[in-house]
Order: sequence, then structure tokens, then C-alpha cells
Amino acid sequence: MATSHPVLVFDSGIGGLSVLSALRKSLPEAPILYVADNGGFPYGTKSEAEIATRVPALLGRLVERYDPALLVIACNTASTIALPFVRSALQLPVVGTVPAIKPAAKLSKSHVIGVLGTEATIRQPYVDHLSEEFASDCKVIRQGSANLVTLAEAKLRGEKSNLALYQQELNRLLEQPEGGQIDVVVLACTHFPLVKEELEAVAPRPLLFIDGSEGIARRARYLADDLASKCELKSLWPLNENEKNQPNNKLLYTAPTEILGCFKENIKKQGLNEIVFL
Ligand code: DGL
Repeated sequence: MATSHPVLVFDSGIGGLSVLSALRKSLPEAPILYVADNGGFPYGTKSEAEIATRVPALLGRLVERYDPALLVIACNTASTIALPFVRSALQLPVVGTVPAIKPAAKLSKSHVIGVLGTEATIRQPYVDHLSEEFASDCKVIRQGSANLVTLAEAKLRGEKSNLALYQQELNRLLEQPEGGQIDVVVLACTHFPLVKEELEAVAPRPLLFIDGSEGIARRARYLADDLASKCELKSLWPLNENEKNQPNNKLLYTAPTEILGCFKENIKKQGLNEIVFL
């Protein structure tokens, strides 16, 4: 099976799965190595220094070991803090994840947008810059939530959660001054689109929840084509007959963890057919 030069998709946990579906559509022929850094999970409650040290070092080891063609950091927290360090340390194209503030500003009619991310993401100067550059005509209201990350992980494990818990998290955003006018909510943590249905269900009025996965997938396709053309190839990942439309996609954990049957089923639906450990 074609395991050489995969697309390495990276997150602290299963949040990057919300990017994976768009990626698999834009790069159907690419083998995926999805890395969940459960050894460092959660990122959102860690300090900038911890993330800026851990992420580039770990990615360096992973790149050396698995020799990916492309790296997708499917994590807002890691991207908004560590992207420049990763880019300068590694010699491969890197796609990062940034809060979708630009499209949100275009879509908002009330010009009041919400940004739901991890505590670490929402306090980044990167978010200030995005707001100043792309949403200067909007009021941008931010809310951090570690609980939504936990709820998304639990959902993938098949655990049932009370909708009231989602309500509580969304209310913390909507009850801020001017929060009542929010019409678009940026899901600025890759875990959150996995619980979008629940957030929509508890929203007191129709809210548009958006994320950046489509843009990431388009950028990854562009970089893969660019790399292929530099090597004078049609694609970086020519599939043989047996593999047609079925590259070997793996989920790699950085630390031991219990794998439940229900979880296995859920990630199989996302095209990840093997679980390995670092
Ligand atoms: N999925 C991650 C993000 O996009 C981080 C979640 C966490 O580990 O706290 O920010």
C-alpha cells in the first residue's frame, strides 16, 4: 500500500477530523497520516511557551520518521502560536489553520461576529491582527471554551452528553455585551465543527457557524499540485489498480490510550482504517 510521503494532518486530538473530510475530498489520492497528540492534549489550556516548544519539536520527529510530502496543522491553537517556528524549522510545505474571521466579516449582516476557540487561541495577537485587517467594520466578540473540546472528544467516543452543557458554553459567548447581535460564529477550534449540530440545536436564534476547513483543503491541493509539477509528476501519489480511491490512511497517537469499538467505527467512517502508536 502507498504509505510513502503521506499528508501529515496534526492536532492535539480528534479535532482535525473536521478538516480531514474536506482534505480527503480535495486530495482523494493522498495517503493520510493523522496524528493526534494525545500525549500533549489539551493544548487550549497550555501556555504559549509550552505549545511553542512542544509542537515544533514533535513535528520535527514526526517529519523525520514519516517523511510526509505536506504538513497540515489542523489545530487553531498550535497554528496561531507555533506556525512560524514550525515553518522555519521544517523543510516542507505547511498549511496552518487560522480562525475564519475574514469570511465571517463578509457574511455578517449585523457586523457583530462571535469567535469561539480555545482559551489559548482567543488571546493570541494573531486574532487581533485578523480582526483589524479583515473585520474592521465589525465588533468581534471572543469566548474560550475548554469544555467544548472535551464534549467533542466524548462524542467521538460515543458518549451521550446533555445538550444543556452546549447551551452553557454558547451562552457565555452570546451573553457578553452586544452578544445578542451576533449572527455569525467562527468555530476557531477544529474540535468545534464536530459538535456544530449540537450548537445549532441550542442556539436561541438562527446563527451561522463557520470554520476554515474548505480553505485549508484548497490550499493543500494547491501546494500538492505545485510540488508535483516541480517534480514533473501528474500527482505525488499515483495509485495502483488495487488502491484505486483507497489510499492507506492511518491514525497515529503519540501516547498509549484505550481504543473503544465505537470510536474505531467513528474514525473508520472518516477513512482512517488503522491505528498506530508513536
Ligand atoms: N483542536 C485544537 C484547536 O483547534 C485544540 C484543542 C485542545 O487541545 O485544546 O485549537
